[in-house]
Amino acid sequence: MKPEPPVRVTYVAPANIAFIKYWGIRDEKQVLPCNPSISMTLSHCTSTCTVEFDARRTGDEVWFRPKGGSFEPATEAFVRPVLDHLEALRRRAGTAGGCRVWTENSFPTGAGIASSASGFSALTLAASEAMGKPPEDAAEASVLARLSGSGSAARSVLGGYVQWPARSGEDSGALPAVQLAPADHWDLRDVVAVVDSAPKGVSSRHGHRRAQSSPRFAGRLEELEGRLEVVRAAIENRDIELLGETMEAEAIDLHHVAMSSRPPIYYWKPGTLAVLWSIRSLRSEGVPVYATIDAGPNVHAICPAEFEPRVSAAFESMAEVESVLRDRVGPGPLATSEHLSEHVGG
Ligand code: DP6
Repeated sequence: MKPEPPVRVTYVAPANIAFIKYWGIRDEKQVLPCNPSISMTLSHCTSTCTVEFDARRTGDEVWFRPKGGSFEPATEAFVRPVLDHLEALRRRAGTAGGCRVWTENSFPTGAGIASSASGFSALTLAASEAMGKPPEDAAEASVLARLSGSGSAARSVLGGYVQWPARSGEDSGALPAVQLAPADHWDLRDVVAVVDSAPKGVSSRHGHRRAQSSPRFAGRLEELEGRLEVVRAAIENRDIELLGETMEAEAIDLHHVAMSSRPPIYYWKPGTLAVLWSIRSLRSEGVPVYATIDAGPNVHAICPAEFEPRVSAAFESMAEVESVLRDRVGPGPLATSEHLSEHVGG
């Protein structure tokens, strides 16, 4: 029998920004979160990943192209979780053979956008399809993406407004993400004020591990059921005030937990507070804009489409802001025939 030729598959997958955060992990191996999270899938901040699967090949190789640069072998820290995930997908597909992986992000690393959610979502979709066993549906894609180790990747396989896991409760962690509303339900914008683009000092992984050492951890969890309900209702009714107040309280709480963990984690920089004050001042002028902050110093300002120019102009005029990224809710991952490997003569 003639050997099968190599199969190339490419996906473009978006990052997402959480309104209710995933913070604290119940089971690291299975990547089971302590609480459900709700996010908005983004549009412009994406990862593109090409996987070439060759049944005759042994071993995998991983190439990364930094923004504005050319493809280079990825670093050990980058490669390790990718190789582990490829191995798990290979076992699931019941196949042998090796992969060549090329990946890049549309946004600068360290810009306050989690590249692991978009990166592992794109890798999961491209690799499983190249191996001949794509996920049967979005639910299976979400579970597979979660098992990469990046919980937020479980949300990035879906577009619009997304909850992961689908419901609350002790036994819910392994459930997939569900879409609460599609992207065209509500045109929200995410204006990111980058105040420090240096890599963060403490990874989300360590933050999750440490969260339960905070005296605020249990109190936040008790409030979360109510917050999840409010955020779901706010999305359904396109109510920015309701969404914004809860989302902001939730982001501050995450950082309260982080700062009171043992040892404490301070993600904020002086510029973070300056942007939070600028958002309060915009609100006092009648602009419905609200902040959320991931595990880093940069501030995501969420507002309806018509207020985006005003918000980005305010950030651009601030000395504390290095750069401003503008993004919006988006429809989720897409397959493309523009393979990255072609750019390196692969
Ligand atoms: C603060 O474990 O998914 O962004 O893999 O580094 O993206 P990465 O982190 P992950 O934790 C995400 C933490 C968060 C909140 C969130 O996105 O829900």
